[in-house]
Amino acid sequence: MEELRRRLETAGLDEASIAAAFGTAPNQEAASLHVRRLAATDPRAVLVQLFLLGEPVRSDALPVDAAELEAAGFVERDGDVVRALLRLTPYTGLLLAHDGENTEHHPDHVAGLNNSARTAATFTVRRPVDRALDLGTGSGMQALLAARHARSVVATDVNSRALRYAALNARLNGVELDLRDGSWFEPVAGEQFDLIVVNPPYVISPDSQYLYRDSGLAGDTVSRDLVRGAAAHLREGGYATIMCNWICHNAGETWQPLEEWVADTGCDALLLAQKPVDPFHYAARWNEAMRDDPDAYVATMERWLDSYERAGIAGIGFGAVLLRRRAGENWHRGYDLQQPATGAAGDHLLRLFAAVDAPLGDDNEVLAAHFALIPDHRLEQRLVYRDDYELTDVNMLLDEGVGLVARVDASALPTLFALDPERPLRAALDDGAEVLPTIRRLYELGFLTKR
Ligand SMILES: C[S@@+](CC[C@H](N)C(=O)[O-])C[C@H]1O[C@@H](n2cnc3c(N)ncnc32)[C@H](O)[C@@H]1O
Repeated sequence: MEELRRRLETAGLDEASIAAAFGTAPNQEAASLHVRRLAATDPRAVLVQLFLLGEPVRSDALPVDAAELEAAGFVERDGDVVRALLRLTPYTGLLLAHDGENTEHHPDHVAGLNNSARTAATFTVRRPVDRALDLGTGSGMQALLAARHARSVVATDVNSRALRYAALNARLNGVELDLRDGSWFEPVAGEQFDLIVVNPPYVISPDSQYLYRDSGLAGDTVSRDLVRGAAAHLREGGYATIMCNWICHNAGETWQPLEEWVADTGCDALLLAQKPVDPFHYAARWNEAMRDDPDAYVATMERWLDSYERAGIAGIGFGAVLLRRRAGENWHRGYDLQQPATGAAGDHLLRLFAAVDAPLGDDNEVLAAHFALIPDHRLEQRLVYRDDYELTDVNMLLDEGVGLVARVDASALPTLFALDPERPLRAALDDGAEVLPTIRRLYELGFLTKR
């Protein structure tokens, strides 16, 4: 299997060569357009058509032996025509098999790489550990990523189709996984882990149609129970990432409803919240696939909106809870994310934990401390012209981070440019500039470390 993956990658089914050909990493929506720019015989075009778009191709155009793909169960042949039986998506050096749209309406559909799966991967703390758990593994993606830095990985699911995909992906990518069938934490009762990743069926709805989407539990119970369950299965010092949706009963709430979930868990917690979505747009987003059947779409939307109204839902929060088990008095902090998470945010998460663990002292201590900016950050500034150009806003963003944006006071910029970790902050001060609020903000938001 591994050999077959290597041959597919060499033939062009890998992120880098697809991005080089298409100018962007492949996604389902854009791939069909991009594929038109390549010669029909370009092996990358043929592989993208077959395995990303699910279109039939001619066997003589395939850069990999069709009989071998058939023997692996990846395709079926009909004379000269080859059809994919699954999808193959390259992702950060992995090749992931999963279902295509043809099974989208089946209860046991195994989804591929979507925003939530990518964000869960981005929000995972990546450090060498002993034992990791991926609960609700689906295609096995989070488990395979965890195996890069964990000695052993347990991956669970109630969907036997998902477990078959996870087993296939483990073989395809040359990784060993301990796959277990069972609901929520049942298959790991009494066990502890150093890392837990949960990207569950968190959608808040009155339905229980799809295993990957609906938990069958009322409201946001599933997210709450999984946060508390993950806390109970963490070893001291271990981290957990739980992707969540939650109910906001009051306008203006973002991460606040999560505070009660993490109370008395024995864990410190970062509560990472995107801007809540209003119930109508939330229901429309999750039922988009029904749009070609207007009657069913309207009936479903009404059912979902009625259930939200009955539950007094003002908005639906989405984001993640990050836990770290720690003996002693625990804390939690909420963060309003303004951007999607990008790259690998594990180091950013560790800086957020560290900033709460070791808060900055009084102004004199701050001036005497040595600070370093995080490499690969961006400053975005806006200038307004009146009599002259006037700098109004400056924001700092990270290339790899959870999606926080830090406001920088324009008057603090010369000090930031002069920051030198070998010298105290005081040595970088620009005369008369008010820099301390910016320094404190950058430190608390993980844009600045203290030496
Ligand atoms: C949103 S998918 C996430 C899949 C994968 N972890 C990822 O990030 O791509 C949720 C997964 O949870 C599984 N699931 C649903 N109910 C479950 C349960 N009671 N216990 C364990 N897993 C469950 C589904 O079968 C599905 O594979």
